[in-house]
Amino acid sequence: MRKAIIAGNWKMNKTMAETKAMIEELKPLVENADCDVVLCVPFTDIQTAKRAAKGSQIKIGAENVHWAEKGAFTGEISADMLKELKVDYVIIGHSERRQYFGETDETVNKRVQAALNAKLKPIVCVGETEAEREGGLTEKVLERQLVEGLKGFKSKDFDKIVIAYEPVWAIGTGKTATATDANNTIGYIRHVLAKKFHKSIAEKTRIQYGGSMNVKNCKELMAMEEIDGGLIGGASLKADDFSQIVNYNK
Ligand code: 13P
Repeated sequence: MRKAIIAGNWKMNKTMAETKAMIEELKPLVENADCDVVLCVPFTDIQTAKRAAKGSQIKIGAENVHWAEKGAFTGEISADMLKELKVDYVIIGHSERRQYFGETDETVNKRVQAALNAKLKPIVCVGETEAEREGGLTEKVLERQLVEGLKGFKSKDFDKIVIAYEPVWAIGTGKTATATDANNTIGYIRHVLAKKFHKSIAEKTRIQYGGSMNVKNCKELMAMEEIDGGLIGGASLKADDFSQIVNYNK
C-alpha cells in the first residue's frame, strides 16, 4: 500500500564534478528499482544533479529550506528557490541541524509549511539521542517532535510528508538499531500519528529508518512491516552501495 522510498542524504559531500560522475554511474544501476529513489544533495549540487539524473527515475532533494518567502536571512535558501530548480524533496529537521544549527520543533514546523506551500515533499527527521534513550525518554521525545513539528497539518499534507526515524546514536556510528527495535519504534511513531492526527494518516504516511543503514542490513530492515524506506548517509555516497540498497528486494 505504501510505496517504499530510499533516499540518500549526502550531507556536506561532493563537488559538482563528483555529483555528475556518481549519478551517471548510478543511473543504469537503479533503472529497475521498484521504490522511489531520491538523492538529497548540497544546494550547490542541485542543478548538476538534476541534469545528470534526467531520463531516470532518480528524484533530487535538498537538505534544508528556510521558512520565509524571502528577505534578510544571509546564507539561507527559500522554498521558491528550490522549486525553481525543480527539486522534489527536502530534508527538514535532521538531527545534525538540531544539534549544530539550533533547529527546534518550532522551526521544523515552519520549514515544513514553507515546503508544502511550494509543493515540495518534506522528509521530516525525528529521533532520540543516546542520553534520551538511556533515560527512557525515547517515546516522549518522539511524541513531542511529531506533535510540535507537524502541528496544524491536514490529511492531504501527509500525502507529501515523509517521516524519517533516525536515532541520533545510530547516525554515522556504525551502530544500527536492530531491525526489531527500529520496527517497534516506527510502530510507535504510527501510533502517535493515529492518536494525535488520524488513523488514516498513520496508515498512509511513509516512515523511513535512518542510521548506519547499509548494503548488509538493508534487506532485514526493509523486510519489517512498519519500515517503508531508508534515509542513507555514508552508504549513499557510492553508486555501487546505494544501488544495492535501492535494489534491496532483488
Ligand atoms: P549514516 O547512514 O551515515 O549513519 O547517516 C544517516 C543519516 O543521518 C541520514 O540522514
